[in-house]
Amino acid sequence: MSPENDSVSKNLFHETAASASLASAEELSKTALKGIRSNPSKYRVLTGERPTGPLHIGHYFGSLKRRVELQSLGVETWLVIADYQALTDRVGSPDLQEAVKNIVLDYLAIGLDVLSDKGVAFCHSQIPELNQLLLPFLSLVTVSEIERNPTVKSEMESMGITSMSGLMFNYPVHQAADILFCHGNIVPGGRDQLPHVEIARRIARKFNTTYCGDRPYFEEPTLLFGDAPMLLGTDGRKMGKSLKNAIFIRDDETTTAALLKKAVTDSEKRITYEPVRRPEVSNLLLIASCCTGRTPESIAEEIGDRGGSALKTFVTDAVNTYFSGIREKRRAYEKDPDIVRKVLARGTEIAREMAHKTITEVHKRMFLDYGHR
Ligand code: TRP
Repeated sequence: MSPENDSVSKNLFHETAASASLASAEELSKTALKGIRSNPSKYRVLTGERPTGPLHIGHYFGSLKRRVELQSLGVETWLVIADYQALTDRVGSPDLQEAVKNIVLDYLAIGLDVLSDKGVAFCHSQIPELNQLLLPFLSLVTVSEIERNPTVKSEMESMGITSMSGLMFNYPVHQAADILFCHGNIVPGGRDQLPHVEIARRIARKFNTTYCGDRPYFEEPTLLFGDAPMLLGTDGRKMGKSLKNAIFIRDDETTTAALLKKAVTDSEKRITYEPVRRPEVSNLLLIASCCTGRTPESIAEEIGDRGGSALKTFVTDAVNTYFSGIREKRRAYEKDPDIVRKVLARGTEIAREMAHKTITEVHKRMFLDYGHR
């Protein structure tokens, strides 16, 4: 076989393996959802985000709304604000503090309960025992397992990074520590998180088989796929926190109206929902659909020949109506000078207690325990 053919067959092999693992992950996700519905107390959600700016409606419909629903089903919800992860593609800066504050306010505004036994939010930099798990976990993965992670590769490409820091290289393992330290068994997220959750599953499995005999310690977490469509920014590119194309949850009505007024459409007068041929128009219809619960086709039908500007007015009203209560709540929380500190102080205390228990047990099982605590 020529080298070229060889690489084709290798690629095919990887693709087949990837789609097989996607299919089995989707199966696991469906089973987990059924389990959650019948017995929510058996599950704990661990998920979160990098503090790189306030959250936008793409985050909301893609993931945050789901978290609120899971929490209201009775699933305990742990939210990690992954501040160390933010350092993988940027240097530390005071903006990080502002971003963390914004995320906590967004959580509160959308109705995530992080002040009762239903949920907690914390920054992972503040939980030393969580970070300490990185060392034992690193002993359970190989460099090539990490190197294969396609999400790390594509993040590097999209950020134009050509050489990566050790922290960036290891971040999927760090993320496994985020998940496993609190025995999170449900990770709601998109497909891009699958390689990370697979590393967490492998670490849990390897720890159990290597150190636990017939008393497994970690449960393998399941990625819970969202069913939400991916929303693009108002310019038709990926909605990005710093691309000036994102509708932020915290924006006021005028800001949303101004951004949507500049949204890219096309020159066809008649509005139709054709995602492949007319991505920008279709994306606006999708945003309106998420906010109204109607199908994009029926909204297109209603607007008919009235063109792009009528579409923009429709979307603006839909977004502003959907988020008006959330935005009002956010403004009320913003007036409370102590609320963010209160959420994080409480979250940190609870997470530290949990992380201490976990690292202690991990040390015991790994024979790193000398009876003199
Ligand atoms: N990688 C996630 C993101 O970029 C953030 C994150 C950190 C996370 N730790 C996690 C997500 C654990 C799920 C579970 O948004």
